[in-house]
Amino acid sequence: MSKARIAILISGRGSNMMALVEAARDKAFPGEIVCVVSNRADAKGLAFAAANGIATTVIDHKAYATREDFEAALDQYLSSMNVEGIALAGFMRVLTAQFITRWEGRMLNIHPSLLPAYKGLHTHERAIADGAQVHGCSVHLVTPQLDGGPVLLQAEVPVLPDDTPDSLSARVLAEEHRIYPQALAWLATRIIEDSE
Ligand code: GRF
Repeated sequence: MSKARIAILISGRGSNMMALVEAARDKAFPGEIVCVVSNRADAKGLAFAAANGIATTVIDHKAYATREDFEAALDQYLSSMNVEGIALAGFMRVLTAQFITRWEGRMLNIHPSLLPAYKGLHTHERAIADGAQVHGCSVHLVTPQLDGGPVLLQAEVPVLPDDTPDSLSARVLAEEHRIYPQALAWLATRIIEDSE
């Protein structure tokens, strides 16, 4: 069975990346994680990826004068790995519309809120401050609108009366790890079908 060649982009802990790597171990999973790219050398997730035999690379955005130069280096690496689809997993750089347009329909992101609610940062703090009763996470296709692309999958969790941002985040994260592999399987299947 041919598999879609997927890159995962991270900036830190990488727990969603780990969930995707675990899911992709399944012979029936339609995608292969061919590389993990971080814009930060200290991203904790890199060690896990390397220990799992996945190519890792650091492309440090600070080493480039412009966003475009950084993205050119990223694109060059992705082409060298014959990457067909991208999963952003806690990747903390805003990408330009040009880069996103090149990958449109082939790039996913996971966001810790029930989009369109709470785009941007500090989603758990904001949900608690608003007295929200329900919160969650969304996987969406990436478009030039920040956190604004078509939503593929969502999962809801309750917000409990004594929740802190940390306790709520942990409840949401467990759902992120469940739905992101499902959404990536959908994208990988679509990539394979498009290439046939
Ligand atoms: C997750 O909450 C994800 O939704 C958000 O950033 C966090 C990354 O966590 N985009 P991890 O690096 O996957 O553990």
